[in-house]
Amino acid sequence: MEPRKLDETLLNNLPGTRDLLPGDISRWQLIEDRARWIFALYGFQEIRTPLIEATELFARGIGGDTDIVGKEMYTFVDQSGRSITLRPEATASVVRAYAQHAMYRAAGVTKLYYIGPMFRHEKKQRGRWRQFYQIGAEVLGSDHPAIETEVVEMILRLLDSVGVSGRLLINSVGCEACRPSYIEILRRELRAQLPHLCDDCRRRSGANSLRVLDCKVESCQPHIDLLPAITDHLCGACADHFGRFKSYLEKAGIAYQIAPRLVRGLDYYVKTAFEIVSGELGAQNALVGGGRYDKLSEVLGGPPVQGFGFAMGLDRLVMLLSERLVAGSSAGPDVFLAFMGTRALDRALSIARALRSRGHACHLEFAGGSLKSQMRLANKLQAKHVLIIGDEELRRDQYTIKRMGDSKQWDATVSELLEYLNAQRPPASQRSPDL
Ligand code: HAM
Repeated sequence: MEPRKLDETLLNNLPGTRDLLPGDISRWQLIEDRARWIFALYGFQEIRTPLIEATELFARGIGGDTDIVGKEMYTFVDQSGRSITLRPEATASVVRAYAQHAMYRAAGVTKLYYIGPMFRHEKKQRGRWRQFYQIGAEVLGSDHPAIETEVVEMILRLLDSVGVSGRLLINSVGCEACRPSYIEILRRELRAQLPHLCDDCRRRSGANSLRVLDCKVESCQPHIDLLPAITDHLCGACADHFGRFKSYLEKAGIAYQIAPRLVRGLDYYVKTAFEIVSGELGAQNALVGGGRYDKLSEVLGGPPVQGFGFAMGLDRLVMLLSERLVAGSSAGPDVFLAFMGTRALDRALSIARALRSRGHACHLEFAGGSLKSQMRLANKLQAKHVLIIGDEELRRDQYTIKRMGDSKQWDATVSELLEYLNAQRPPASQRSPDL
């Protein structure tokens, strides 16, 4: 019989997406675990919103003139004729959920975080995917600049805990009181520079003139540098807010750089905008982006509520993760159970059940095989210990234990082994990440 021909297009994932394979997943889990731990220290709770939302939520929330809404969203009409979009970011969804579930009725500010995939049809590039992952957090119900500092501190703590550093860039993008007059001035000044600017800048100079400031094209830079800075045109309230934010950062000992051209690619921002960039990432150097969005809830038809938050690119963070941490987090089982014969397999199964119920990871290779081949496999799997069950061990109900790190060998009953393992490492439920 002819072997079936494989359909190569079916056996490839879509461009800009990827499989996160078991060999790499410990890097992701390590960061996610630390994020959950650190966010809890700052009073954040997890929220999980749907991956699909009504298209209008993003169109209105992020802004129709932005690149995300204009050309990057995965949008389709579903069977009931509704326009649906795979979420390109989660802030609009979190604000929707906050209003929908009247979370403003709870006491104090609401602090929420999320971890999950986002979707944008962007040009493929190193550090840029069409399905990518964000870890983000939002604070709803406070316009205090001290909360902004606390959030920045929390991000830096997370980055530091995984051995990553970055530069904090801050700016104020003004508010509805001062931004329109600044944009007027910017447009006027832009006219003189337009002949020297790239096609993208020229296109943006109309409806989206702020985004010209964000252009990365080399030849545009000297001309954009001549444009007025928004920080010189802030109203009293925005200037005061920005000043207080900077002073809280200084009191917290957090180094920052003012980036007057930092405008971000989403329309909902007012006042504080920030990014954390890393020189090790290449062209896509933004690791974290965030800011204040006090009008977003109202734009979506919700109650007036101030908001501040951020999202970090998990894919990018994984690229930078300290190798030292990855090497220290071996995924090998605590105990590999090597057995000889069917009766020994039965015993191995019941011992594994007992060890697992106390939180110790076990591995058995059901096909069995010679002791030598099982030992070889235990080695490959980076098992920390091997427990050997042969006829003699079955009879005595005592097992040979081999510690793979230093090849030390001894005999132990299951309860002695448990005592030893518990002393080595407390069960997972009692462990906390080492910060
Ligand atoms: P954003 O700047 O669009 O902000 O995205 C935040 C981070 O997500 C970026 O700094 C980057 O690390 C990562 N990221 C964005 N697009 C991609 C991509 N195509 N591939 C890989 N990583 C990517 C937001 O999404 C806002 N919702 C942040 C926020 C929350 N502002 C207030 N609250």
